[in-house]
Amino acid sequence: MKERSEGEPMSTINPAKKLLMIPGPTNVSDRVMNAMLKPMINHRSPEFTALVESITEKSRYLFQTKGHIITITASGTGGVEAIAFGLVRPGDNVVVPVYGEFGQRLAEAIELAGGNVVKVFAEPGNVPRLEDVKEAIRRTDNLKAVYTVHNETSTGCAIPYIQELAKAAHEKDAFMVVDGVSSIGGYSVPVDAWGVDMCVTASQKCIAAPPGMVIISLNDKVADFLKRTPPTVRYFDLGKHLDFLEHGYTPFTPAVSLYYALEEALTALKEETLEKRVARHVKCAGQLYSAIESMGLEGFAEKGCRSNTVIAVKNPAGVNDERFREIMSDEQNVVITGGFGPLKGRILRVGSMGDVTSAHIQRTVDAMAKTLSKLGHPVDSKRVADVAVRGP
Ligand SMILES: Cc1ncc(COP(=O)(O)O)c(C=O)c1O
Repeated sequence: MKERSEGEPMSTINPAKKLLMIPGPTNVSDRVMNAMLKPMINHRSPEFTALVESITEKSRYLFQTKGHIITITASGTGGVEAIAFGLVRPGDNVVVPVYGEFGQRLAEAIELAGGNVVKVFAEPGNVPRLEDVKEAIRRTDNLKAVYTVHNETSTGCAIPYIQELAKAAHEKDAFMVVDGVSSIGGYSVPVDAWGVDMCVTASQKCIAAPPGMVIISLNDKVADFLKRTPPTVRYFDLGKHLDFLEHGYTPFTPAVSLYYALEEALTALKEETLEKRVARHVKCAGQLYSAIESMGLEGFAEKGCRSNTVIAVKNPAGVNDERFREIMSDEQNVVITGGFGPLKGRILRVGSMGDVTSAHIQRTVDAMAKTLSKLGHPVDSKRVADVAVRGP
């Protein structure tokens, strides 16, 4: 990148706009970016209260809930820590399906809060069997909660049985808590109807806002618990957040510009409607999976649990994934990502979320086909493009 000389406006050193097809941050529309240019305001003022109220109302639409909404300036990990420390107290027993890196991190956050975690594992590329998780729930005495990642961003798998888990948790008088960081907005997750007591998401994925905000939905049962048993943390004390939000404020200085952006992104989401947005995610994912297969590549996740928002692909044999992504980015201007943790070098991951459209999918698969051809695996780009248009 060119060095900026003194006095030169920042915009001239921005790199060429690339199509961002990673699992967050996603492409953010000019409309949402421009919202951040609004003037700074006092965060203890009627203007800020109106901003928070608008976000709260639109977030209720997003989570399909009549419950409480908390927004916090933090990345998704902050939100995960908040939901862990919100309910888990030292010695509590918690069941967690672990089917990838983010499930592992969720379990670790619960352990940091002092919880005893009963993990139910699955091989990468799959989700645990519902029966196995239910069995763990049945067997665990004094179960405090079931926590799960809905969509495992590290493997491209999603759990299709959240509702059944909530039912099993409630039969044991336990809470049901979901990390929906890479699913909310790309999937319909009606938290009230499904019996999800608390759920977290982050701004930079299916909501298509810049990174830096989390939204947490929680019901009265969780709110009562927080009042009776305040968490022993400060910034992520959800009870304190609820108290302040009753008066239209956040307990600590919020990133006001990000609140503006989030409000605009949620307004756009509501204008599109959640139903159409979810249908768009399903369609784009289908087009991507079909096109990938027509290139001779193989999806990583088992068919029954393939994600609608993160498409994981087995690394083509003999292809260096870093080189593949480098050519995609430098020559095709399309940015995708690879695997991490135990899947480093084994998979490619394409984020298909937020404002993603079929045109983005066309451009991505065309870039992948050309990159594969360049790396010695000739692909008929025209045929791949036709398949991508048709979808499954
Ligand atoms: C399912 C899930 N949970 C938590 C996180 C952590 O979010 P962040 O990277 O914003 O801290 C991510 C990030 O990709 C995620 O996909």
